[in-house]
Amino acid sequence: MSKEDRKVIAAALAAFILAGLSGVFFRWGMNGGWLAGLSLGNIRHAHSHLMYFSWAVPSLFVLLIPNDLIVRRCAWAAWLTGLLAWPLFLFYGYTAGTFGPVTMPPAVAISGLVMLIWYGFVWRWIQLRKPDPLAWAAVIFLVASSIGAWGISAVAPLGLKNPVWVESFKHMFLSYFTEGWLTLGCLALLVRRFPLPPSRLFSIALALLGAGVATAFLFAMPSNILSPAIQWYARLAAVLSGVGLGWIAVGLWKQSSGWWRLPVGALLTKSFALVVLGPWPTIWWADHHQDRILFLHLLLLGIVSSTILLMALADDHRVARPFFSASIVLILMLIPVSTVWVFPSVMALWMPAIGLFSVLPVLAAVPVCMRLLRT
Ligand code: HEM
Repeated sequence: MSKEDRKVIAAALAAFILAGLSGVFFRWGMNGGWLAGLSLGNIRHAHSHLMYFSWAVPSLFVLLIPNDLIVRRCAWAAWLTGLLAWPLFLFYGYTAGTFGPVTMPPAVAISGLVMLIWYGFVWRWIQLRKPDPLAWAAVIFLVASSIGAWGISAVAPLGLKNPVWVESFKHMFLSYFTEGWLTLGCLALLVRRFPLPPSRLFSIALALLGAGVATAFLFAMPSNILSPAIQWYARLAAVLSGVGLGWIAVGLWKQSSGWWRLPVGALLTKSFALVVLGPWPTIWWADHHQDRILFLHLLLLGIVSSTILLMALADDHRVARPFFSASIVLILMLIPVSTVWVFPSVMALWMPAIGLFSVLPVLAAVPVCMRLLRT
């Protein structure tokens, strides 16, 4: 990886630190701390959008297409726009503000701009025509997720009154982005690092995964707006993508070693959750906020963030060991407040502890950021 690409990832990691601090601030507020008049919802939006826009997206851009000036420019533009969006989400969330003669939701407007920058990367990807099926699938899901986002803004002008439309577009956007773009993008990077022998089974696994991810967004919607038949279909989609993901992850596990087993192990855990908890009749994780947070952070810290750092640091990962350990601790700490926890509730005791431990990955990211800047 070139020095210029590493600088992008260092800047993205600085955004991770700011976004992580916003997450710590959220936990502080949740435990009764002073929030300076800001709403918890807005802090959560500021955290999640900065993590996505300025940490995950620019890093994946330069890792999927390294050493390319156009891609680097797209990555810097995405990073900067994400940073500009952070205070807007913090102060306005999705609501409108008045700026001179104009009244509009500023954070929503800037998010539209972010997606136009993504299209710059997609255009470059198409131009280069890389023979990489997993990365192609990731890029297709990036475009599909942006269509979901445009769909949300089209619901009102099209007069679609049933709330299922907004929910479908919203979850299409979120699921295609996380389960499609981010997961498949990281899987593509891991398979580049640990090539799996081409086989018919690999193609079948990829097809199952793609088909599952394409419809798994239904599983992220509240169950009360879906008919029982659609719910079972969504569960089937979860199982399909879990089987496809699991098959590829087992292949990666056999080839990898050391800290590379962190994202691969998290992939295996995710596929296990999809296959076993997907069809579990009493579990519908979109209905339980803490389940969603656990499942999201298993993916975003355990798979996405660790894959980005492992790729960026090449083969000397020592400086990132505290970060990896802190991420594992934070993910494990989210289990006792989820419905996966079958023992007596420890919520009251545990929430302040999670708040305290949330700061660990943020602190551990600082030396990694310095290293990336120096090398
Ligand atoms: C330093 C590590 C991190 C900390 C301390 C942290 C903290 C938090 C907190 C406190 C919440 C809100 C929880 C709630 O609503 O109960 C949250 C939600 C979320 N975080 Fe993180 N997080 C971290 C890493 C990440 C990463 C790496 C990403 C993405 C790349 C991410 C994306 C999200 C998303 C998408 C949500 C859910 C937003 C929603 O429900 O609207 N987080 N995180």
